[in-house]
Amino acid sequence: MIVWEQRDRLITLHTKNATYQMKVDGYGVLLHTWYGPRIGGGDLSRLIRYADRGFSPNPAEAGRDRTYSLDTLPQEFSCAGAGDFRLPALELELPDGSHAADLRYVRHEIRPGKYALEGLPAFFSGAEDADTLIVTLEDRAAGVSVELLYGVFEEYDLITRAVRVINRGEAPVCLCRIASLCLDLPRADLDLITLDGSYAMERRLHRAPLRPGVQSVGSVRGMSSHQHNPFAVLCDRDAGEEHGLCWGAILLYSGNFEAAVERGQFEDARLTMGIHPFHFRWTLGPGETFTAPETALVCSPGGLGPMSRQFHRAIRERLLRDPYQDRPKPVLLNSWEAFCMDFDQEKLLSLAGAARELGVELFVLDDGWFGRRNDDTTSLGDWSVNLEKLPDGLRGLCEKLRGMGMGLGLWIEPEMVSEDSELYRAHPDWALCPPGRPHIRSRQQLVLDFTRPEVREYVFRSIRAALEGVDIKYIKWDMNRPLAQVWSPSLPPERQGEFYHRYVLGVYDLLERFRREWPQALIEGCAGGGGRFDAGMLYYAPQIWCSDNTDAVDRLRIQYGTSFAYPPCVMGAHVSACPNGQNGRTTPLETRGTAAMSGAFGYELDVRELPPEEKKLISRQIAEYQENYDLIRRGDYYRLSPPGAEGVPAAWAHVSPDRREALVSIVAGPAGAARPFRTLRLRGLDPALNYLVEGDGRSWPGDVLMAAGWPVPSMGEYECIRLRLRAET
Ligand code: GLA
Repeated sequence: MIVWEQRDRLITLHTKNATYQMKVDGYGVLLHTWYGPRIGGGDLSRLIRYADRGFSPNPAEAGRDRTYSLDTLPQEFSCAGAGDFRLPALELELPDGSHAADLRYVRHEIRPGKYALEGLPAFFSGAEDADTLIVTLEDRAAGVSVELLYGVFEEYDLITRAVRVINRGEAPVCLCRIASLCLDLPRADLDLITLDGSYAMERRLHRAPLRPGVQSVGSVRGMSSHQHNPFAVLCDRDAGEEHGLCWGAILLYSGNFEAAVERGQFEDARLTMGIHPFHFRWTLGPGETFTAPETALVCSPGGLGPMSRQFHRAIRERLLRDPYQDRPKPVLLNSWEAFCMDFDQEKLLSLAGAARELGVELFVLDDGWFGRRNDDTTSLGDWSVNLEKLPDGLRGLCEKLRGMGMGLGLWIEPEMVSEDSELYRAHPDWALCPPGRPHIRSRQQLVLDFTRPEVREYVFRSIRAALEGVDIKYIKWDMNRPLAQVWSPSLPPERQGEFYHRYVLGVYDLLERFRREWPQALIEGCAGGGGRFDAGMLYYAPQIWCSDNTDAVDRLRIQYGTSFAYPPCVMGAHVSACPNGQNGRTTPLETRGTAAMSGAFGYELDVRELPPEEKKLISRQIAEYQENYDLIRRGDYYRLSPPGAEGVPAAWAHVSPDRREALVSIVAGPAGAARPFRTLRLRGLDPALNYLVEGDGRSWPGDVLMAAGWPVPSMGEYECIRLRLRAET
């Protein structure tokens, strides 16, 4: 609900559990007065203090009033150069060379439904479940308008924000910095939570109290990155899973980003999130508009658990455009860890046949099917089938698989080119590289200039030709190196700062074309595992390969961190062979199944020669996953016990929305002597119901399971337990 109160010039946004408010003050400045637990209304600007603070300047309108300063007031959208020295959301370079933007309220508009963003990912509304607010601000002297867009999803408890900057003047202006989110909070006794890591160890949770000054995470790699995720939480210092006030923010963007928090001199905090300012400079010609990517916000008065569940539900129902929205996704087997690039049709079919016998429904042919791709030095960009490996082509392979009752999925890496390729020989200038410099390779490959429509057109046409007549069910879109030597011959020198963002727009453009061309195919995002695991990609690719690390123990940590923002159903998760290829660890097959079942489930190993008992176990896992599919896909996710705590098993639960069913998973840590008795307190159940706990054989009252807990039996190293709970009557 969006409410405008004319007398006090207040705009209040209400979601189910939160209220957000801004006020147009006497000078036309848009102040941010509240984002917190839901309140009835009233003018929250009464919380704002005005005081004469040394070295905080006063705008002209304030005359001799030294208590009015943009440097101390909570801003809805902060600008650089006009007296607010904290983190700016907007920095402009004006035609006269000055960098002083000063925005004042002009008008606003409230509309039913949710705004959309041209060429950018965004949450969408269903029937009447969202409203839009557009507040227009203007810097009259500069001739620049800014539209602040808000989407209010009341039932989902979610508010989205995006920004449009419009040049209404006669001369070009430059955008040097644009954040889609500026959130001022009147306190700084907060923790900052971010998801950080590296290749093969992505999105581990980090939490620290705010320190004075700016702290930030971000990426300048041209992709959202393995190292940091476009997601941040500010929360009470003692906030836990089920208590404490938390503000979560997700940026729907897959390129360079920055999430920054400034703890200010008077113990306030400002969170900004948007495109990273490194090498960003966008020239806006007269009449042109720049749209900054969307951020999504959740304020949870009841802890981190509800915050995550709100994001999960909104992402599942209002962001994913999944061909499998209404029916179960097939269980897949991916060829990569079994064969890498060393295969032929016969080998593939023998693997597929063995997998089919175990219950696998989709066979994904990974890297190595095109050009002369027998190792990673060659053929990226040449999307023609290697007929030596696949004499019947992809079509023939697909038909043979269909005969076995299986669908075909295919790996591609559209953004890349190998120097040893027909494509590179024909168009060396399509690979990123400033003139006169030697190439910087990564995984032996170069990046294509996706800002150029002709490059995208070529890639689209050549992949379409390869898929001609193929009933493709799944496409794995990979991206295996960061961007370096960013430069495009299609942009003049003064516009090279537009490259990174134009690249992302190019990726989104091609992804959208893929969606339209193959609407039946599930697109899975991938970037060397989880190097581009973000909500922007999820709009096009409703599932993302979580990490190249498939070791169950490491995966639990990766999936735990990921779950703070993203729902389990989008996390590509596979059972692979042991000892694990990334870290050499051996874990029980059952535990690998438990870890993978908590995501978009599949296998990635050579199942042909497995001992009969392992084959039997795999068949059972597949049947169990299928049986629990709805629970995992649509259930509420509860983190019960974090992985990695010494001696304490990791535990989590998927609970059905009506709270009548649950799947609880428990995984023990490394071996240890004299372990304490553990009792696991469950969450999210109905206290008034009795549950039959399969795997335990007993019936338990919901209130007992939540207040007292379930007694965990002693478990061996990395062993697991899965409990299925069903309400009795
Ligand atoms: C990346 C992916 C893997 C696999 C290989 C193929 O590393 O993350 O899953 O597809 O590329 O080259």
